[in-house]
Amino acid sequence: MVKNYNWGVLGPGKIAHQVSAAIVSTGRGKVFAVGSRDLSRAGAFASQYKAERFYGSYEALIADEDVDIIYIATPHHLHYEFTKKCLEAGKPVMCEKPATINLRQFEELMHLSREKGVFYMDALWSRFLPSTLKVLEWISEGRIGDIKVVRADFGFKATYDPSGRLFNPALGGGSILDIGIYPIFLSLLLFGYPNDIKVNAVMAGTGVDASCNMSFRYKEGGIASLLSTFLAETDTSAEISGTAGRICMNRLWYRTTSLRLVNGDGESFFNQDYKLNGKEYEVEEVMRCLDAGLTESPLLPLSFTADLMRLMDEVRKQAGVEYKEDLEKIYLS
Ligand SMILES: NC(=O)c1ccc[n+]([C@@H]2O[C@H](COP(=O)([O-])OP(=O)(O)OC[C@H]3O[C@@H](n4cnc5c(N)ncnc54)[C@H](OP(=O)(O)O)[C@@H]3O)[C@@H](O)[C@H]2O)c1
Repeated sequence: MVKNYNWGVLGPGKIAHQVSAAIVSTGRGKVFAVGSRDLSRAGAFASQYKAERFYGSYEALIADEDVDIIYIATPHHLHYEFTKKCLEAGKPVMCEKPATINLRQFEELMHLSREKGVFYMDALWSRFLPSTLKVLEWISEGRIGDIKVVRADFGFKATYDPSGRLFNPALGGGSILDIGIYPIFLSLLLFGYPNDIKVNAVMAGTGVDASCNMSFRYKEGGIASLLSTFLAETDTSAEISGTAGRICMNRLWYRTTSLRLVNGDGESFFNQDYKLNGKEYEVEEVMRCLDAGLTESPLLPLSFTADLMRLMDEVRKQAGVEYKEDLEKIYLS
C-alpha cells in the first residue's frame, strides 16, 4: 500500500512555495503543517497549501508528532541549528542547500543522523532531475569516452543589498555557497574530489564573494573550470567533454530539461519536461527512501554532501571568505 507523508515546512519563503507545490503534486505528500517566525505568515502559507496546522515558531513545528518529515527552507545560517533540532527530535529532514555553512557543522549532523538512525538529505534538487540522470547514463554507456573537461557556470546580476541573504555574511551570503555550489556539485558528481584546487574571487563590500572562479585538477588528467557570480548575467550552461564527444547541458543547466550529445555518430538530443517544477523529483526521492526505511539517499548520500562541504570550505579558504561559524571551530573542536 502506498504510504502518504505529512510534510512540515519550516521557513515559508520564496523557495518553500516551489517545494510545497511539488509536495502537493506528488499525490501522496501533504503540506500538513507550517512553521514561521511569525504566526500570521505561517497561517497565510498554510491556507495557500491547505495545511491543517501552523505555528509561530520553528520549534513548535518540529514538536508536532503528526509531522512525518520536515523541509527546512530558511536562509543558510539556520540550516545547521534546525536540522540538528529535527534530528535530535527524531524527525526526518530535507534541508535546503547548502546543507550547512561549513564541513564541521555538516559532519556533526551526519554523525547525529547516523547515531539516531534518522533520515537526512540535502535538498540539492539537480541531482534527481531527469537531465542529470540522463547525463550519467550517457557517460556510463561510454557515449563521450573518458571525461577530461567539465565547464560549468552560474551567474546573474543580483541587486546589491548588504542585509539580504545573498550578500549578508550573517546569513551565509556569497556566491560560492548560494550558486557556486551547483557547478561544484557537478564536478564532484562527474570527477570526484580534486587533487588540486585554484580559486580567484572578487569580494563584495560585505566581505563575502561576489564572483568566484574555480579550477580543479584530477589525478586522471581531468580539469573542471567553474564559475559563480552575482555580478553578471552569464550563460549558466555546462559542457562535459570526453575523449569521444561532449554533452551540452543547455542554459540554466542546473535545472535544464534539454541536453545535446555530440560524438562520432552525430548529434543526439534529450528533452523531457518536468512533471511540475523540478522539485517533485527530490520530494519523491525522500518519500521513496522513507518507504524503504533508509536514513540517507543512495543518490545523494551524506558522504557526498560531506565532500561537497569540504570542497566549498577549501574554495572559501582560498577566496578569503570566512563566516562566524568557521571561527566557532576553534572553540568547539
Ligand atoms: N533549491 C533551489 O532551487 C533554491 C532556490 C532558491 C533558494 N534556495 C535555498 O533556499 C533557502 C531559502 O532561500 P529563499 O530565497 O527562499 O529565502 P527567503 O525567501 O529570503 O527566506 C526564506 C524564509 O526563511 C525565514 N527566515 C528565517 N530567518 C530569516 C532571516 N534572518 N532573514 C530572512 N528570512 C529568514 C523566513 O520565513 P519566516 O520569517 O516566515 O519564518 C523567510 O521567508 C536558502 O538556503 C537558499 O540557498 C534553494
